[in-house]
Amino acid sequence: MSDSSRDNLFANPLGQVPGFVFDESVVDVFPDMISRSVPGYETILAYTGELADRYVQPNTHCYDLGCSLGASTLAMSQRINGRNAKIIAVDNSDAMLKKCALILASTPDTGAVELVNGDICDIEINNASLVVMNFTLQFVPLEQRANLLEKIYQGLNPGGCLIISEKLSFEPESLNALLSELHHGFKRAQGYSDLEISQKRDSIENVLVPETLDSHIQRLRACGFQSTSPWFQCFNFCSLVAIK
Ligand SMILES: C[S@@+](CC[C@H](N)C(=O)[O-])C[C@H]1O[C@@H](n2cnc3c(N)ncnc32)[C@H](O)[C@@H]1O
Repeated sequence: MSDSSRDNLFANPLGQVPGFVFDESVVDVFPDMISRSVPGYETILAYTGELADRYVQPNTHCYDLGCSLGASTLAMSQRINGRNAKIIAVDNSDAMLKKCALILASTPDTGAVELVNGDICDIEINNASLVVMNFTLQFVPLEQRANLLEKIYQGLNPGGCLIISEKLSFEPESLNALLSELHHGFKRAQGYSDLEISQKRDSIENVLVPETLDSHIQRLRACGFQSTSPWFQCFNFCSLVAIK
């Protein structure tokens, strides 16, 4: 890996740590950042492809909400060739979408992908057999999350699947602290220093707002998803499926 694609954004003391934004500096190091920060990220991508294979129906739409550089889009597209299903990949970071477009253009056989520069709370969702939100809902303001999930439920066809991957919080606080410490140990083992871990935590606080697994499941049930379960968890990172 070249030095420019290694995530060392928080390696030097920053004084006042700025709030985290998905700008060009993050885009350049994003694949390294997410794979060294999120335990199980590669597994979640692989099974996003597996679930796409199982759930994507011919002539329907698949949504990748908060697509970043298109990793989930690529995982889906590799498994749904020949179904005439369109992937609609949405992000509201110009920098992410520009690089995503370049990556998709240089990857053979990506099928039909429409890139949308917009807020996932504002876009229309229809004729969906699969909706993927891998590590995106946690960045949506809390008060907008229920409406977004309600819109997704309405836009999914019967039998359609929603995948939500998130960082979780836990109760009581002692359990939350344990799972955070295990996660920080994972990051240390991935080569991040204590300074990097603590500055990143300060930067992302109040930007990434995690919820408990119970809150996710209750909200999904309230929207109408009766069939929902976590299918993966490692420390304080989890992925859920919900079937309409
Ligand atoms: C952690 S990244 C997602 C990673 C990606 N899904 C993957 O699997 O590699 C979160 C992304 O969500 C985008 N995002 C956050 N809030 C958004 C919103 N309200 N509308 C659209 N995109 C949003 C960010 O710009 C960022 O690219």
